[in-house]
Amino acid sequence: MRDPARFWNRIAKSYDKQSKRKRENLLRTIEKIRCHLDPTDRVLDFACGTGEKALGVSDYVQSIHGIDLSPRMIEIASAKVTDRKVDNARFTRTDLFDAALEPESYDAIMAFYVFHLLDDSARMFERICELLKPDGRLICETPCLGESGSAIRWLIALAGKTRLLPTVRCFEIAELEASITSTSSLRLVESESDAENRNHLFIVAKKI
Ligand SMILES: C[S@@+](CC[C@H](N)C(=O)[O-])C[C@H]1O[C@@H](n2cnc3c(N)ncnc32)[C@H](O)[C@@H]1O
Repeated sequence: MRDPARFWNRIAKSYDKQSKRKRENLLRTIEKIRCHLDPTDRVLDFACGTGEKALGVSDYVQSIHGIDLSPRMIEIASAKVTDRKVDNARFTRTDLFDAALEPESYDAIMAFYVFHLLDDSARMFERICELLKPDGRLICETPCLGESGSAIRWLIALAGKTRLLPTVRCFEIAELEASITSTSSLRLVESESDAENRNHLFIVAKKI
């Protein structure tokens, strides 16, 4: 897909409604994330979407900065900062390689439902490592669609070829774990399949 931001802009409003509808899932995920955060943490939420997870953990940390390539997603997230009167969260339309993001400036980086959308995972994990402070944590969840049946994988590949949907990478669980640990100085602390959807993998990794 030539410009993925166009796709995410188009679906931003319905994506936001959908995540509010799945409130129980959202609260469960927020609870899991919070277990790995401290009140003094400066946190980056990479590919924050409409900001529900970032805002859900904002009262547990010192500050949270959400970034996303879709201006529409960022607009919706930023409006919530004002509506909910949150004073330690901000959202910016940018990507992970923005030079304004300073090396070793984050205690934790969240990345939910984005790794399968990016093609150069080695470069991405190196950058995540660069942005984390020593002992910093990567907290992420990724659909590992390589664990699905061949019909689903075939449909995903076909959808990507239409150029109407973003290209999706079908990680297997072991492959995702290996890409995190082999390409950077990140070490796995926790790796757990979601109780409802076994292919969705929640990972916490620490920078050593
Ligand atoms: C499936 S949504 C996940 C949103 C949010 N993290 C969540 O868990 O609800 C994927 C998000 O990734 C963003 N995205 C995709 N590629 C990106 C990139 N290279 N840099 C930043 N954001 C990206 C999209 O705009 C979209 O908001």
